[in-house]
Amino acid sequence: MVKKVAIIGAGVSGLAAIRCCLEEGLEPTCFERSNDVGGLWKFSDHAEEGRASIYQSVFTNSSKEMMCFPDFPYPDDYPNYMHHSKLQEYIKTFAQKKDLLRYIQFESLVSSIKKGPSFSVTGQWVVVTEKDGKQDSILFDAVMICSGHHVYPNMPTESFPGLDNFQGKYLHSRDYKGPENFKRKRVLVIGLGNSASDIAVELSRLAAQVFISTRSGSWVMSRVWDDGYPWDMVYVTRFASFLRNVLPSFVSDWLYVKKMNTWFKHENYGLMPLNGPLRKEPVFNDELPSRILCGTVSIKPSVRKFTETSAVFEDGTMFEAIDYVIFATGYGYAYPFLDDSIIKSRNNEVTLFKGIFPPQLEKSTMAVIGLVQSLGAAIPTADLQARWAAKVFSSTCTLPTTSEMMDDIDEKMGKKLKWFGQSHTLQTDYITYMDELSAFIGAKPNIPWLFLTDPQLALEVYFGPCSPYQFRLVGPGKWDGARNAILSQWNRTVKPTRTRAVSEAQRPQHLHNLLKILSVPVFLLAVLLTFYK
Ligand SMILES: Cc1cc2nc3c(=O)[nH]c(=O)nc-3n(C[C@H](O)[C@H](O)[C@H](O)COP(=O)(O)OP(=O)(O)OC[C@H]3O[C@@H](n4cnc5c(N)ncnc54)[C@H](O)[C@@H]3O)c2cc1C
Ligand SMILES: *[C@@H]1O[C@H](CO)[C@@H](O)[C@H](O)[C@H]1NC(C)=O
Ligand SMILES: *[C@@H]1O[C@H](CO)[C@@H](O)[C@H](O)[C@H]1NC(C)=O
Repeated sequence: MVKKVAIIGAGVSGLAAIRCCLEEGLEPTCFERSNDVGGLWKFSDHAEEGRASIYQSVFTNSSKEMMCFPDFPYPDDYPNYMHHSKLQEYIKTFAQKKDLLRYIQFESLVSSIKKGPSFSVTGQWVVVTEKDGKQDSILFDAVMICSGHHVYPNMPTESFPGLDNFQGKYLHSRDYKGPENFKRKRVLVIGLGNSASDIAVELSRLAAQVFISTRSGSWVMSRVWDDGYPWDMVYVTRFASFLRNVLPSFVSDWLYVKKMNTWFKHENYGLMPLNGPLRKEPVFNDELPSRILCGTVSIKPSVRKFTETSAVFEDGTMFEAIDYVIFATGYGYAYPFLDDSIIKSRNNEVTLFKGIFPPQLEKSTMAVIGLVQSLGAAIPTADLQARWAAKVFSSTCTLPTTSEMMDDIDEKMGKKLKWFGQSHTLQTDYITYMDELSAFIGAKPNIPWLFLTDPQLALEVYFGPCSPYQFRLVGPGKWDGARNAILSQWNRTVKPTRTRAVSEAQRPQHLHNLLKILSVPVFLLAVLLTFYK
């Protein structure tokens, strides 16, 4: 019988894990190397070893209704996109209100996790922790790894000839905290993800000139979408996801590209992604196009080489007299406390069933929480992953056999390569993924049944935002407040911006949107039929 569970890390994934273990009657012990909860969202003004590090101006790119713990909505006056300090406040409140702090041992570093003496029988792990220079070795029945994956910088210095002789300074975005040191400097930012764009935009107000160098380009989207609603409350709906999955791919690709180009033409801004329609994760930045229009940020192709003072790009152009190069080139995954063969069991790639379970273990007593990336928020994903893992540990759910799990992994890999291209093998469609996980534990909302029994709720669940509450409407771990939370989500969305009320509050009209979306395929069909005749 699995009872004692070790949880590594007290970020949002770790907190979700503690909570879900308690719900299943397990005994969690969480080890956190720093002195507080929050992980990545616990800001510090210098990068700390082994921990994620963010800059002072980080705001969330998911909106509050889409990124809450599913039974813990944000206060209605919180802004939709939050500064990191605001999110950290929420995370701390969650930990206090759910009484999770007493399961956490702070300033305890987990330095090693190894299979116990009779692992194939018991599935137990030996967890070694370090606190105040003292080592402790404890036997646990199961382990949840929640140590984060924005920790180990990806610094591709070898692929930049001449960087050794470059006289300016260079750093990884992990060490960027704010623009102060860059006043009147000439800065080159390498990469075009969320961090690269944020940093370039922030610097462009103080620096002399900012260049961004990108190999593959990116779609740049605004947080503010149709009629001013938060992007994810409009985009992440079951109905839209259904359309994306049933439409022939040339139609859905065409729609996707058209949507991405409605704000501005990416070609004209040098941002156009290579392999345009591939569902490359978009970048959220409301200011980048405007900074490019104002000439304070310019987009360039990859760097061919560095000279002592400048960068030469692939197209032969140069950026001269560079003071700083910032590598916003993302992160790699690493679990230094674990034997690599457990998680990267094949070709040195992360090989996990549904992004959670190592498939080759004799006993399913290990889970990785928070690793899968999808175009959805981290908190609700971690909550569902941890709920499933806790059920597997307590034997109320069983996993398929090793070979079935491996087949599933292979099939998923194939599909993802097609959709997202090579470098995004951990990306998954959010709603598809969440439905899959919730189906395993019997918490997937039954939409047809809902339309019959509670049409008002069903409309909002199907056409409205796929908010986290949906996954605690039914089944084990169901929350009685979920229905009301769904029906009042637009009220909480509009509240913080309607600070001067002049008329009735507006909310999206599902029927209207439906007609708008349908008009395109219907039009295409009509055109096709006309020519066919
Ligand atoms: C700039 C930026 C912006 C982002 N914005 C969003 C957003 O808007 N919305 C969203 O959903 N996601 C966002 N993310 C993704 C982010 O990863 C998740 O929101 C979330 O914070 C991940 O939480 P986690 O608990 O999995 O990992 P982390 O927050 O990294 O927490 C891991 C914890 O484990 C601890 N730890 C690690 N190793 C050990 C060890 N060996 N022993 C003991 N403790 C250990 C660390 O100290 C840390 O506290 C963003 C990421 C970045 C980098
Ligand atoms: C938000 O930004 C972080 C950091 O760049 C990224 O990992 C995450 O995928 C983004 N979320 C969405 C929904 O794009
Ligand atoms: C949302 O706000 C409106 C207007 O203030 C109110 O009439 C309605 O009852 C609220 N809905 C919910 C579910 O709280």
